[in-house]
Amino acid sequence: MDKNNNMKELLSLFEDYLLNNLPNSKTFHPYFEAALADMLKAGGKRFRPMLMLSVVKSNKGLLIRNSLPVALGLEFLHTYSLIHDDLPAMDNADLRRGFQTLHKKYDEVTAILVGDALNTQAFNLISNASLSNDIRIDLIKCLSSNGGIDGMIIGQAIDCYFENQKLELNQLEFLHIHKTAKLIAASLKMGAIISEYDLQTQEKLYNFGIDLGLLFQIQDDIIDETCSSLEAGKTTQNDSSKNSFVNLLGLDGAKKSADELALECINILETFDSNLKESLEELLLKYINRHK
Ligand code: IPE
Ligand code: IPE
Ligand code: MG
Ligand code: MG
Ligand code: MG
Repeated sequence: MDKNNNMKELLSLFEDYLLNNLPNSKTFHPYFEAALADMLKAGGKRFRPMLMLSVVKSNKGLLIRNSLPVALGLEFLHTYSLIHDDLPAMDNADLRRGFQTLHKKYDEVTAILVGDALNTQAFNLISNASLSNDIRIDLIKCLSSNGGIDGMIIGQAIDCYFENQKLELNQLEFLHIHKTAKLIAASLKMGAIISEYDLQTQEKLYNFGIDLGLLFQIQDDIIDETCSSLEAGKTTQNDSSKNSFVNLLGLDGAKKSADELALECINILETFDSNLKESLEELLLKYINRHK
């Protein structure tokens, strides 16, 4: 891919790849295969795969196509986390990406198993990518730890366990770093692994992703408070029992925190080398300010 390809083209490359690589095994189950594809086809911002691909684009443009299965793996894992997050035992939400959630449209068993399937298939996709063995192993390590017990899963466990119990500010940060920021940080780092950036740059991108991910979650909490379900495409006003930033800091406090983190992210972006900065800026400027 040449250097002039912009984010729109990168996104459309990803969307085409996704549509051509939806899970398509056919069995005699009347609707499981359809359910597997529903939430992937429903859309979403594709923030995590785009982060990863933007880092690849910054210095290994020729590897973008080989990276698409990895980007799709990230989106599979993220989509699974949303499907499970919406279950009655977790956030009990009816709407996701503008459509009925899977447990509403079908049944809970289907939603649980579609989530399980997308989780395992994420790693299958990465393991089959045309990348070196060392890179594939590093990618799998990164995604499994940040999306698993050292990351998203423990974050979700704490998020749900401490409903209706106020956490301290440092615990709140721990919760949201694990629940959301680590997968976002991992997306950047996975791009850096494919691009074979040195370890210091990988670490720098990861740490930037933690700030960016925290900002993303504060914005998400503001969306829950201020947007209708129709506007957000998902159930909103659903965080009343949660340790959300809005509940702990108030709406103005959450917006102020988002402003501060947004500024910090912009400042960190300035410190990356010019290719990386250019590539990320194009994707990130609209996200960094989306709470405004
Ligand atoms: C929602 O993620 C869940 C959070 C971690 C905040 P996104 O806002 O990225 O959801 P989609 O992928 O666009 O649907
Ligand atoms: C979910 O956070 C984070 C995940 C790991 C899926 P939320 O519960 O705030 O996400 P939404 O608002 O339902 O998308
Ligand atoms: Mg949740
Ligand atoms: Mg939720
Ligand atoms: Mg939310």
